[in-house]
Amino acid sequence: MDQAANLRNIIKRRNNIPTNNQNHEKPSNQAKKKARVITVTSGKGGVGKSNTAINLSLALTDLGKKVVVIDADFGLANVEILLGIKPKYNLSDILYNDKSIHEVITYGPNNIGFISGGSGVFKLMNLQKDQILKLTQNLNELDNIADIIIIDTGAGVNDSVVEFIMNSSDVFLVVTPEPTSITDAYALLKVLDNTPYFSSNNTSINIIANSVNGEEDGLDIYRKLSGVASRFLSLNVNYLGMVPFDENVRKAVIKQVPYYLEYPACRASLGIKKIAKKVDNIHEEEANNVKGIVGMIYQFFKNKLA
Ligand SMILES: Nc1ncnc2c1ncn2[C@@H]1O[C@H](COP(=O)(O)OP(=O)(O)OP(=O)(O)O)[C@@H](O)[C@H]1O
Ligand SMILES: [Mg+2]
Repeated sequence: MDQAANLRNIIKRRNNIPTNNQNHEKPSNQAKKKARVITVTSGKGGVGKSNTAINLSLALTDLGKKVVVIDADFGLANVEILLGIKPKYNLSDILYNDKSIHEVITYGPNNIGFISGGSGVFKLMNLQKDQILKLTQNLNELDNIADIIIIDTGAGVNDSVVEFIMNSSDVFLVVTPEPTSITDAYALLKVLDNTPYFSSNNTSINIIANSVNGEEDGLDIYRKLSGVASRFLSLNVNYLGMVPFDENVRKAVIKQVPYYLEYPACRASLGIKKIAKKVDNIHEEEANNVKGIVGMIYQFFKNKLA
């Protein structure tokens, strides 16, 4: 069997998709547990994606979930700075230096796993088949380590961000009340709506309103976006909740400690806690319907392997 067929079969088996050579293999009766993959993104930069990704991860650990955060915002190392940790390796070390996923994960507060994308993810589309195989085999392990994988992306409409969004189980779109944040979020929705695979696979877009004055403010952002989306686009837009504007967020960023840990009773922490509960409920409801990180990679390289 050539390498591409080998990889296709690993991925298919992992996702319980029938393989061509099932006569020779023991079919698995039950799909192995897969981690839910959530991509946190935004139209405009600086709206609170990384803070949301980290603090939501921490709040989810308090609900008993095992969470791994992947920083796919290449170059800026947002998550590392906010968590105050310095991982030794990143995803490209799996590809180029034979490191395993276990060596690439650094554990932070509340035992959240952290993986730096380095420049590895950035070059994902240029990988050779043996590298894709190596990456897939390693990422496969994440399903044993995590219930939820949260990917923090850069802002805006660039190819790699759209690729991530397209292939995730869930997309969390962070929006602030600033008019430019809302118009840029809409621009991103429009691009996704025009991406045939995405608009046909029913991935829901979940709005998180950040830096708002209160509940009503958050709902207002959601109504604006879902209003135009339902009129002009065919995407499903849901509301996840809001995180109020809170001076403690900035204070925590300066201290390089997540606000959820430093100021657990602050307005922002209470907001993120409420969102975490909602995410946890969705997680329980849809646990059997998750394609996992390997499913995501499969979609990613489907055309390449065809
Ligand atoms: N809820 C909030 N209340 C007050 N300030 C906030 C809040 N959320 C974010 N901020 C401020 O916004 C800044 C940017 O946040 P963050 O780094 O999470 O944004 P980002 O979307 O990840 O940015 P980038 O696009 O550069 O990756 C923070 O350093 C903080 O000062
Ligand atoms: Mg960021």
